[in-house]
Amino acid sequence: MDQQANQQANQQANQQKQDTDQQQKPTKQQEQRNMHHGFDVEAIRKAAANLDDGAVTEGYAADREAICKMLNDALATELLCVLRYKRHYYTVKGRANAGVKAEFLEHAQQEQEHADSIAERIVQLNGEPDFNPATLTQRSHAEYDDSEDVNAMVRANLIAERVAIESYRQMIEAIGHTDPTTRALLISIMAVEEEHADDMADLLTK
Ligand SMILES: [Fe+2]
Ligand SMILES: [Fe+2]
Repeated sequence: MDQQANQQANQQANQQKQDTDQQQKPTKQQEQRNMHHGFDVEAIRKAAANLDDGAVTEGYAADREAICKMLNDALATELLCVLRYKRHYYTVKGRANAGVKAEFLEHAQQEQEHADSIAERIVQLNGEPDFNPATLTQRSHAEYDDSEDVNAMVRANLIAERVAIESYRQMIEAIGHTDPTTRALLISIMAVEEEHADDMADLLTK
């Protein structure tokens, strides 16, 4: 390539670079918007780029795999609670137990909602929700129960709810402020488990 051709090529490359710089340069308006409140603008720009990571951005501060493992144990617990409450709901008998029966059904449905929200969160974190029935009981914090006596059922549920509350409390503490969305989800679930425990404690004393 002679000198003139070289020069031309260089000029072209420079022009292209300027064009790209121009395109990438944020407008004054964008800049003002990005800079306020001391945002980490760099992390925000990266968030706009790494689309394969879905909901997980550069600034995600938690150990994603550890959180997914924790959530999978919670998922197993919730699924097992659905099974236990369903078993109790279908098998409890007698007109006197109509109120308890309704309570068991309501709890079963709420445990299912918890399981769904947890599975959804695992997927948002690019993890795999584990629904494998073969390992469900080993992974669950709470236990299954097939008592035939209504008081034994209520007692088993109260124990399971207290186990769930304590395990959520520990998870929330472990997450701290590293993953606010998971933390908020677990706090909202734990509040419902506290209602469940209270409901079971009321029934136990009747
Ligand atoms: Fe639950
Ligand atoms: Fe519960």
